[in-house]
Amino acid sequence: MWIAHFSDLHLTREGQALYGQVDTRAAFLAALARLRDLPLSVELLLISGDLAEGGEAEAYLFLRQALADLPVPVALLPGNHDCRATLGRGFPEQFAAWQGPVLRLPLSQGSLLLLDSSVPGREWGQVDASTLAALEAAAGGPLLVAMHHPPFPVGIPGMDAIACRGSLEAFGQWLAGAAEGLLCGHVHRQVATQFHGVPARVAPSPAHQIALGPRALAYTLEPGGFLLHDWQPGRHLLTHWLPVQAAPLHFYPE
Ligand SMILES: [Fe+2]
Repeated sequence: MWIAHFSDLHLTREGQALYGQVDTRAAFLAALARLRDLPLSVELLLISGDLAEGGEAEAYLFLRQALADLPVPVALLPGNHDCRATLGRGFPEQFAAWQGPVLRLPLSQGSLLLLDSSVPGREWGQVDASTLAALEAAAGGPLLVAMHHPPFPVGIPGMDAIACRGSLEAFGQWLAGAAEGLLCGHVHRQVATQFHGVPARVAPSPAHQIALGPRALAYTLEPGGFLLHDWQPGRHLLTHWLPVQAAPLHFYPE
């Protein structure tokens, strides 16, 4: 089962380049075009937060219009740049079903648990006792968990300072017994690791990436991309990274 995983779109108002030079709308549309052209049957598009740069209704409207004719269902998560209330008004059918910090989404095999790690007015995320209770109530059967803020460090100090906080030990223990994979965003860079033994992936942004290294936080315009997960419950979580920009095929002679 293929799941496309975008993150950190940071969509802006029309004609407004992010930081004066990043066309986040164009990057997202290019990623969508790449997704449409893939010779695979994708079951779901997950977008793991920071959909809009500043939580603007206009950015969510653009997102809604861009996704309107995509023949793939979409699951949205809020990130620290999003306004949960405005996002909920922009996608009422997505957010009306949320009763708390967790939403269970059935897939053809197993389920995806969407976990809202965002904290209004804060860059960092949080998992607390009420989140854990909601996760336990929603668990059962093969699961993937998706959240914006990684609950583990990624080796970029400026991002690690604004990662997920809270009851991480208890969360990790719950995850180890309940989930087959953890899908995150926030870092603007592809990262693969394990968290309490569970395969964990961080999706890049289709637009700007966060630079590696211990210096002050910086972004870079190296190629943007997204992830494509093949989840076979009980068997594997296999992940491909795809750059937004496609390139021609050159077939080998038979
Ligand atoms: Fe972001």
